Amino acid sequence: MQHVLVVGATSAVAQAFIRERARRGERLTLVARSAERLSPIAADARVRGAAEVVTHVLELTDVSAPAAVLETVAQAPVMAALIAHGSLTDSARAEDDAAYLAQELTVNMTSACLWAQALAVHMANHGGGTLAVISSVAGDRGRGSNHAYGAAKAGLTAFCSGLRARMRQRSVHVLTVKPGFIDTPMTAHVERKGVLWASAEQIARGIDQAMIRRRDVVYLPGFWRLIMTVVRLLPEPLFKRLRF
Ligand SMILES: NC(=O)c1ccc[n+]([C@@H]2O[C@H](COP(=O)([O-])OP(=O)(O)OC[C@H]3O[C@@H](n4cnc5c(N)ncnc54)[C@H](OP(=O)(O)O)[C@@H]3O)[C@@H](O)[C@H]2O)c1
Repeated sequence: MQHVLVVGATSAVAQAFIRERARRGERLTLVARSAERLSPIAADARVRGAAEVVTHVLELTDVSAPAAVLETVAQAPVMAALIAHGSLTDSARAEDDAAYLAQELTVNMTSACLWAQALAVHMANHGGGTLAVISSVAGDRGRGSNHAYGAAKAGLTAFCSGLRARMRQRSVHVLTVKPGFIDTPMTAHVERKGVLWASAEQIARGIDQAMIRRRDVVYLPGFWRLIMTVVRLLPEPLFKRLRF
C-alpha cells in the first residue's frame, strides 16, 4: 500500500487526485493551510476507501513546515507526493505592492521548492519514491499579463529539473507538471472558457498516469507542448507586443 502525501490538498486539482488515490485504498497524508477546508476533503477520502487519512494544517510557506510534517511520517515513509499549492498573482497589484509581490513569489516558487527538496531527501532516505510538482506552462516564457506568476513557475520548473538530475541515482523520480488553463477556483474570474480549458479531474488523471509512467516533464493536456513550442520560438521584439 502506497503512502501518498499531498501539499496544498485543498486545491481543486489536488482534490481530484486525492479522490482517485483514496479509491485505490492508499494511505494519505494531506497538508493544507485551512482546517475548515481540509476537513471535508479528508472525510470524503475516508468514505471513498483510503486506508488511513492524516491531516496537517499549517502555513505552507513557513520554512520549517516540511520538516515538521515529515518528522511525523518516519514510521510509514512517503513513497509518492504531489505539491499542488499556488496562487495566480495579480500582476497590476504586484507593480505597486512589494510585500504582496514577495509573498506571491514565496508561495509559487520558494515554498514549493522547499517542500520538493524536503520530500525528495525524505524519499531518498527511505528507499525512493515519486514526487510530482505542479508548475505551469506560464513558466515557459515570461508574459506581460502574468510576469510574477510566470517567473515563479519558471523558477520552480528549473528547480525541479535540477532536483530530478540530483536525485536520479537515489531512486527518487521528480515529475514536473505543466498544465495549461484549468477550470478551478483559481480561474473562477475568467468568464469565457473555451476549447483550451481542462477540468481538474482531467489534469489529476494526467498527473496520475505520468507518475506511473515515470515521465520527467508533462504538459497537460498534451497539446500544450506544441502551443508552448510556438510561444517559445516567437522573436522577443514581436513577443513583447503581444497582449496575452
Ligand atoms: N487553474 C489553472 O488554470 C492552472 C494552470 C496552470 C497551473 N496551475 C497550478 O495548479 C496548481 C493547483 O491549482 P488549482 O488550479 O487547483 O487552484 P485552486 O483550486 O485555486 O487551489 C489553489 C491552492 O493553493 C493554495 N494556496 C493559495 N495561496 C496560498 C498561500 N498563500 N499559502 C498556502 N496555500 C495557498 C490554496 O489553499 P486554500 O484552499 O487554503 O486557499 C489551494 O490549496 C497550482 O500550483 C497552480 O499554480 C493552475
